[in-house]
Amino acid sequence: MVDQYWYQKSVFYEVSVQAFYDSNGDGVGDLAGLTQKLDYFASLGIDCLWLLPIYESPMRDGGYDISDYRKINPVYGSVDQFANLLQEAHNRHIRVIMDLVMNHTSDQHPWFKAAREDRQSPYHDYFVWSETDQKYLDARIIFLDTEISNWTWNEATQEYYWHRFYSHQPDLNYDNPAVIDEMFKIVEYWLEMGIDGFRVDAVPYLIERDGTSCENLPETHAILKQLRAFVDREVPGKVLICEANQWPKDVVKYLGRGDEFQVAFDFPLMPRIYMAMKKADSAPIRWAMEQLPSIPASCQWGTFLRNHDELTLEMVSEEERQFMWSEYSADRRYRLNLGIRRRLAPLLDNDRRKIELAHSLLFSLPGSPFLYYGDEIGMGDDVTLYDRNGLRTPMQWTSGNNAGFSTAGQLYSRIISQPEYAPSRVNVEAAEKEPGSLWHVIQKMIALRHDHTVFSTHNFTWIDCHEARSAVFRRESENETILAVHNLSDTVLHLEVPVTRAANYVDLFTSRQYNEDESKLLLALEPYQYLWLKALLG
Ligand code: NOJ
Repeated sequence: MVDQYWYQKSVFYEVSVQAFYDSNGDGVGDLAGLTQKLDYFASLGIDCLWLLPIYESPMRDGGYDISDYRKINPVYGSVDQFANLLQEAHNRHIRVIMDLVMNHTSDQHPWFKAAREDRQSPYHDYFVWSETDQKYLDARIIFLDTEISNWTWNEATQEYYWHRFYSHQPDLNYDNPAVIDEMFKIVEYWLEMGIDGFRVDAVPYLIERDGTSCENLPETHAILKQLRAFVDREVPGKVLICEANQWPKDVVKYLGRGDEFQVAFDFPLMPRIYMAMKKADSAPIRWAMEQLPSIPASCQWGTFLRNHDELTLEMVSEEERQFMWSEYSADRRYRLNLGIRRRLAPLLDNDRRKIELAHSLLFSLPGSPFLYYGDEIGMGDDVTLYDRNGLRTPMQWTSGNNAGFSTAGQLYSRIISQPEYAPSRVNVEAAEKEPGSLWHVIQKMIALRHDHTVFSTHNFTWIDCHEARSAVFRRESENETILAVHNLSDTVLHLEVPVTRAANYVDLFTSRQYNEDESKLLLALEPYQYLWLKALLG
């Protein structure tokens, strides 16, 4: 029987088809290449792949600028190859979700091409127009480093069109029922092909209203509830994942009463993991966890350390943002919009202890974890590449030619070349061979998550050890209790962990046993050490 709550227990892996594996030697990763690598995900323990957009696109925003929602970008392959990928993934019990970019199209989409030529075109009302650029002024600009307004002038029709992102990405007009209809048909098309759901892009911005921030409006929620009902009617058991870079009180509304999205990314937590590690103080994580409202039983948070975008600092205070920028991007070239365009390993000084600690937090805190391709081997970034491209370089498979990614003479992107992160040092083949590698630790964490379903529940209790440098919490179900213990600092910590149920504990990583002493566990933790202590009851 299909477990309809599968997404609560899944480990997700965000993958760029372009960057993963090139099967035909044209220098660009493709669907057939990804299919050839499915065993890689199976051995890592991945449950669900999230594919970055693969639709036809002029590729001015990593494919988030779509010119045909029903076509696959021909450099990635054909619809048949996509169907084959789904089949092969499902054979291995791996699910596949796609990106659904509802909010905007590319300016190369035929709808927009027609709309911008003629006010009488039936497609004109698919987009948002105004005679003046003084409307909706309370809406912030998101791509601060490139855009100066959310309006761009259209010469042919003598008016402005609305866009929350790049000016080449006109926003669709969700006040027009025809747009909703079109989008639902697109959703139906891909669901019928057999995908397992969507990560829905930029959902807060569907509807605009004067005098508001044009974000999170009730009318937007109404459309998303319709979307969920439509998906459930079409094929039950599919997932909708919400990308809303907002505060928890606003994000939680996207889960509705379990009738909108099933999963929503927890944006405020992510930067606070880095903050806590830099400050050697758990307060930021604790604060982020305290902000989380309870969510419907059928829902789940989506947690992550990095993704294909800059490490966003939208959900922090100004003071916290300055702290993050000065600590994590002293070199200003790494700053982009309100964020930092760096990968996980370089952010954490390529220090194995810190990288493991961050993953331990990711995998033991509530939520379904999302990994970003390449971070499991500690890939680096390239700040000299445009925009966020430095985080989207070819996957490093071997130390050989083109990092084993492709046989082409020319690739879609340079490969990471800094010696510390170059394929000669950082590649899958070496990581798989070396039993103590980061890859194997992550594989182990994933396996433990699967074995201990308490991690997939909503149950979470912070344990106060009167030591700010520690992050200690309990995950508990009827069947088991696990304490996750973290030393966020670079010094040895002596911790007294109060335990409620008298029990001895065993660390799930090392099988070492820790015995309670008068309702306390006395622990000595090495710098950045972490333990997952399971209570041995009875
Ligand atoms: C969010 C996506 O994650 C990002 O990559 C993209 O640039 C914007 N949405 C606009 O589509």
